[in-house]
Amino acid sequence: MNNRKWVFGVGVAVILVALFSWNFVRGSRGTSQTGSNTGGQTVERTTQTNRDLSGDNDVLVVYFSRTSGVWDGPLEVGHTKVLADYITEATNADQYEIVPAVAYPDDYEATAEQARQEQADDARPAIANPLPDLSEYETIFIGAPVWWSEYPMIVRTFLDGEADQLANKTLVPFTTHLGSGLGASQRQLESQFPQATVLDGFSVRGEDGAVNGAESDVRAWLTRIGVNN
Ligand SMILES: Cc1cc2nc3c(=O)[nH]c(=O)nc-3n(C[C@H](O)[C@H](O)[C@H](O)COP(=O)(O)O)c2cc1C
Repeated sequence: MNNRKWVFGVGVAVILVALFSWNFVRGSRGTSQTGSNTGGQTVERTTQTNRDLSGDNDVLVVYFSRTSGVWDGPLEVGHTKVLADYITEATNADQYEIVPAVAYPDDYEATAEQARQEQADDARPAIANPLPDLSEYETIFIGAPVWWSEYPMIVRTFLDGEADQLANKTLVPFTTHLGSGLGASQRQLESQFPQATVLDGFSVRGEDGAVNGAESDVRAWLTRIGVNN
């Protein structure tokens, strides 16, 4: 192995160890939560999703993603959005992006600290765009980066705001991550929506470019779970 590869390999290993340590620390504090607190917000809904191709499509892909990256940003397209786009394409779905009312910092450390605080506070950060009307959809993919082993709290804002409409749907989690896989995302959906059908989710590592080569794996997964239009 030449020196550059060795240095790169050690760098990746250090970051992975750091991430697993976070997860361990978080797990040992037992802070995993489910909630139904909408913070008393009035839910405004829109029939306008980002893309409405056919009008008779019953699949929606919901995602949250940033373009900052942990060490490979700024990105043209966030890792989770790359995955969301593959799913959208393969299922001819509509899309809804969860856009924070207050953007997260570009700086990784600042975002990490804010995300940790939001989890500790069981916060529901506000979403800038109106929530979509889900009545026409049967299957809803819900994707985000894993943050501190879970969905970012802003995804909870979405889940709580749409709780009545999500209750009886088919829900499918997907994530990008640096070692945590799906994290708690699938368990969170199963626990918050016991009447829903929650299908096996898909996850892929973000920062090492794996997501860019994941399209065929995504299609194979969609076939396995029986969702492809
Ligand atoms: C605040 C924060 C917390 C993170 N926590 C974890 C974690 O617990 N486990 C993990 O595998 N990756 C973690 N990551 C890495 C992200 O999941 C990964 O970079 C993801 O691909 C980012 O997706 P995006 O580009 O769509 O935002 C974290 C990243 C951030 C910014």
